[in-house]
Formats: sequence, structure tokens, C-alpha cells
Amino acid sequence: MEQKAWLIFVIFTCLIASSCGRELKVDHKHKLPVYNHTLATILVEYASAVYISDLTELFTWTCERCNGLTKGFEVIELVVDIENCLQAFVGVAKDLNAVVIAFRGTQEHSIQNWVEDLFWKQLDLNYPGMPDAMVHHGFYTAYHNTTIRHGILHAVKEAKEFYGDLDIMVTGHSMGGAMASFCALDLVVNHEAKSVQVMTFGQPRIGNAAFASFYAKLVPNTIRVTNDHDIVPHLPPYYYYFPQKTYHHFPREVWLYSLGLGSLVYRVEKVCDGSGR
Ligand SMILES: *[C@@H]1O[C@H](CO)[C@@H](O)[C@H](O)[C@H]1NC(C)=O
Ligand SMILES: *[C@@H]1O[C@H](CO)[C@@H](O)[C@H](O)[C@H]1NC(C)=O
Repeated sequence: MEQKAWLIFVIFTCLIASSCGRELKVDHKHKLPVYNHTLATILVEYASAVYISDLTELFTWTCERCNGLTKGFEVIELVVDIENCLQAFVGVAKDLNAVVIAFRGTQEHSIQNWVEDLFWKQLDLNYPGMPDAMVHHGFYTAYHNTTIRHGILHAVKEAKEFYGDLDIMVTGHSMGGAMASFCALDLVVNHEAKSVQVMTFGQPRIGNAAFASFYAKLVPNTIRVTNDHDIVPHLPPYYYYFPQKTYHHFPREVWLYSLGLGSLVYRVEKVCDGSGR
């Protein structure tokens, strides 16, 4: 009897959620992490600040974008790969009691390059140690095969020595979101990080169904925030005729329509001279 009451409660809650939750389109197939909008408004500021090209302002956290909800952030390390036009930072947010890692996307100019890649290239790399899990080679290598990974891991280790076991929150916008996702997985799989959560903004798809399923188990607290008007999160397109080769979303996805985060993140600055990608 109690079970039945519970079931009715669940169905009722779902009905309410679907009737008033017009702004949020959610995939209910898996057990989902909770979307916390307060946290999203904070993390989007980190994802936005990492675009700042004045490294001194960024390191001392005195940039124009460093003055809002992220005030008081202590940067531990800026990680810059000039050759590949990549940038990230690792630091400690005392108010969140967490290490925050943020990755920058690429400049618009080079976004076009990899948007083209996304259209024409299929999943072409097997994620090590996960049978059948295929990922996008370009995003994988941007994190794993540049100087970025080493810098991030070093700073995370340093933060741990200094502050103990804090939560780790990884974020990024666009391609930065893709790198954030690979980073979080790396921390969990290869570096025994315990409490890792991911929240990305306007992130493109990065892997197939097998990968998404491994990911959900290993980093369950992952949310991909997307804006329907932005083309990047819709890429690469689904290949309906090759379901085993197609890209899949992470299980938990939040679609923004009028939540106002977009304006913060989409002020993307010109970041490199155009040679990097
Ligand atoms: C949401 O995140 C904020 C900021 O980290 C936190 O203070 C708050 O407790 C969270 N709310 C819930 C319901 O977890
Ligand atoms: C990583 O870089 C090395 C050396 O540049 C290269 O041989 C290797 O194939 C790259 N790995 C991937 C997965 O692209």
C-alpha cells in the first residue's frame, strides 16, 4: 500500500514538473543529478572569466569579470597552451568549499574549424579502458595530448596538499565544456578524485552511447546546460542511420530559454591570433 502511495506521489510530481517546467527540457532516462540554478549562475561566471586574456588580472583575480559571484577566488594555477590556443585555470573557491577548474573554448574563428570537423568527422577514438566507448578525437586530444592536462593535474595536487580534500567542480563553455568533461573523467578514473561535479555551458557532444553510459556511472553529477539558440550544443548532428556511431548527450541536460546565463558566457573575446585552433 505504501508503495502504491509512493508511486502515485511520483507520478503526480512528474505531472506537476512537466506542466510548470516549460523552461527545462530534461531527459528522464537515468537517475539525474539535481540542477542547482544558484550554482549555475556562479559557475557560468568562472566559465566566462577564463576567456580573459590578461593573465595578470586573471591570476590576481582582479579582472572585470572576476568581481561578481566569484569574488575572493584564489587562483592556484593558470594553464596556457599557446601553440594550441588553450587556456584554463585551477583555484579554490572558499564559499563553495571547492576546487574550481575552468576551461576556455576557442575563438569564434577557430570554432568554425572544429564545427566543420564535427560535421564531417565521426567518432574516431576509443576511450582507453572503456569497451565500445568512442569519443571525438579533437576534443579528447585538446585535453589529453596538450600541455593542459599536466598543468591541471599538477595544480589539483597542489590544492589537495594545501587545502585537503575539497570537492572539485569542473566547468567550461563550448569546446571548453568538452575539455571540462574529459578532465573530470580523467580525475575520477586516473587520479582517484572522489567528489567531482561537472557543469558545462553550450557544450558540443563528445562521445557515443557507450561513452555516455560509462560517464554517467563514473561522474554522475554532470550537467550540460545548453541554449536552444546556440548551434554548438546541437553538434555534431545525430546520424540516425548509424546509431552505434552517433554522438549522445550526457544524461542530464538543462535547456535554457530565458534564464539569462547566455549573455554572460557568450561574450566570447577574441583570444588568439588565429594560428591556434
Ligand atoms: C545550490 O548551490 C549553492 C551554491 O553552492 C548552495 O549554497 C546551495 O545550498 C545549493 N542548493 C541546494 C538545494 O543544494
Ligand atoms: C598524441 O600526440 C602524440 C605525439 O604528438 C601522437 O603520437 C599521438 O598519436 C597523439 N595521441 C592521440 C590520441 O592523438
